Amino acid sequence: SDAVPFYGEHQAGIVTPAQDRLHFVAFDVTTKDRAELVDLLQSWTAAAARMTQGQEAGAFGAVGGVPEAPPDDTGEALGLPASGLTLTIGFGPTLFDERFGLAGRKPKALADLPKFPGDALLPELSGGDLCVQACAHDPQVAVHAIRNLARIGFGRVSVRYSQLGFGRTSSTSRAQATPRNLMGFKDGTANLKLEDTAMLGDHLWVAAEDGADDGADDGADWLTGGSYLVTRKIRMHIETWDRTSLAEQEAIIGRTKGEGAAHGSAKEFDEPDFTRKGPDGESLIADVAHVRLAHPSSHGGVRMLRRGYNFVDGSDGLGRLDAGLFFISYQRDAHRQFVPVQLALARQDVLNEYIKHVSSGLFAVPPGVRDAGDYWGRALF
Ligand code: HEM
Repeated sequence: SDAVPFYGEHQAGIVTPAQDRLHFVAFDVTTKDRAELVDLLQSWTAAAARMTQGQEAGAFGAVGGVPEAPPDDTGEALGLPASGLTLTIGFGPTLFDERFGLAGRKPKALADLPKFPGDALLPELSGGDLCVQACAHDPQVAVHAIRNLARIGFGRVSVRYSQLGFGRTSSTSRAQATPRNLMGFKDGTANLKLEDTAMLGDHLWVAAEDGADDGADDGADWLTGGSYLVTRKIRMHIETWDRTSLAEQEAIIGRTKGEGAAHGSAKEFDEPDFTRKGPDGESLIADVAHVRLAHPSSHGGVRMLRRGYNFVDGSDGLGRLDAGLFFISYQRDAHRQFVPVQLALARQDVLNEYIKHVSSGLFAVPPGVRDAGDYWGRALF
């Protein structure tokens, strides 16, 4: 079957092969009652365990309950398979304010992201106390899952915003072909992948506190085996990009558009050689090329796992596509990994002429649910 296991050491939807469709949602918690929050997380976990295995959200299902009550599943996924559905939960910085007595448990690494040059963030599309990333091969399945979690959460959470994505812009496994983003370039070539098991420990999963003052602890024991999620909704000025020459597009990215090879290399997966110069003495990969600015060698070796999606939210009323990249990255500490890379990009990337960051989110992603007696975030409460 195409069901992804729900129980495990880590949550699914991070390093499991990226599916093609996304429905991402950020919630505000409206109850002030800690017990209600815990109850919600337990109900959500049970529903998620079912839906990811291709079952209905509740035991009675869309049509099996009493006719006098609203069904415990909304029905639009009846007859559809699991479709590789993964549901991944994250806890935002605001969940750790005074409401639920969690302030003392907030990891240092969950401090707000800094403001980056050029940010044009819309508060109503940013932040959130909780988030859920639903990924599936079928958009109906992803939407069904988020809709049912919102239904179950009625009276305890409200939807802050949600985002649909089509077309993954990353591979998270070497078995997957590299997809393309809306700029037409292969995206996800140099990504952390599930086969990189040793690197995942260094760059992806939050490690246990060991007391040593070596900077290797990530801030909170309840998060061991978890990760940090960064979301950035990046609007693309598609029409401007489409009037840019191929040579300029390739120079901006630092790779060819067809093969996806770094300049001076022949094949997509050849390591970029940043030292190579052309006959004019200029570097083949420009100093401000995206892949140079973002490369681990420019940031003391830091890496991240990118798992973003293309989005098109129709047109904007001015005849332009309201489109871009819903950037998603997972890392062990966003302040040490995402932040320095994004700072370099925000300052120097020529791509900035063609993009605008309009939303931002940072979430602590708890470890996996072990079995039916466990629930999302149990170690936190
Ligand atoms: C690489 C596009 C935003 C981090 C790439 C590549 C493309 C690309 C085409 C080369 C292929 C690959 O290795 O995946 C874009 C576009 C963006 C965007 C169109 C915005 C709309 C970002 C952001 C970050 C980021 C916000 C993180 C702060 C990276 C990293 C690499 C990369 C780490 C791999 C560099 C390497 O190791 O060679 N991007 N990117 N990108 N991008 Fe982006």
